[in-house]
Amino acid sequence: MEKSLELDAFEQLSLDHQQVSAKLSELEALFSDLPSELSTELEAKLKGFMQFIDEEVWAHFHFEEESLFPLLDAHFPGENAPVAGGPVRVLREEHKIIRRLFQRFEQAIRSSQADWKAGAEVRLTGVQLATAFHKHIYKEDFVVFRLAKNLLSEEERRRLNEVWDRSFNPRKST
Ligand SMILES: [Fe+2]
Ligand SMILES: [Fe+2]
Repeated sequence: MEKSLELDAFEQLSLDHQQVSAKLSELEALFSDLPSELSTELEAKLKGFMQFIDEEVWAHFHFEEESLFPLLDAHFPGENAPVAGGPVRVLREEHKIIRRLFQRFEQAIRSSQADWKAGAEVRLTGVQLATAFHKHIYKEDFVVFRLAKNLLSEEERRRLNEVWDRSFNPRKST
């Protein structure tokens, strides 16, 4: 996804979210009028969406899981026990759900290439995936990131931005 040198990690993550939301809208538009057979055009659009997720979204998840969430864990020590319901635990769980739904969606697309009767499953799993993404993005942008900006110290935010730059701004890492 487009990375700017001027934005901090939270702004970049939210920019990624906007790009994912735009892709999800394109996908949902496909489902609102799914043709009775799998055309080459539809197949290309579905594959384009899968490729976008593979190339862009998993790197975003990885950054959140490896760099952002551990910083936040320190601010919610009691809530991260296995049975408690801290906000970071919920986000981690949602990442797992999204990854699982993505696999089911991928599988449905593969099945539909052999038999378009599986098109209904493509729509079902695609809608579930889009819904899970929308909820997750909303939660991060409007709840957890806002909270995080208040909780993290300047030093923690500086470290976070450094990792972001190393991960996504190759021009800065040299
Ligand atoms: Fe995110
Ligand atoms: Fe996330």
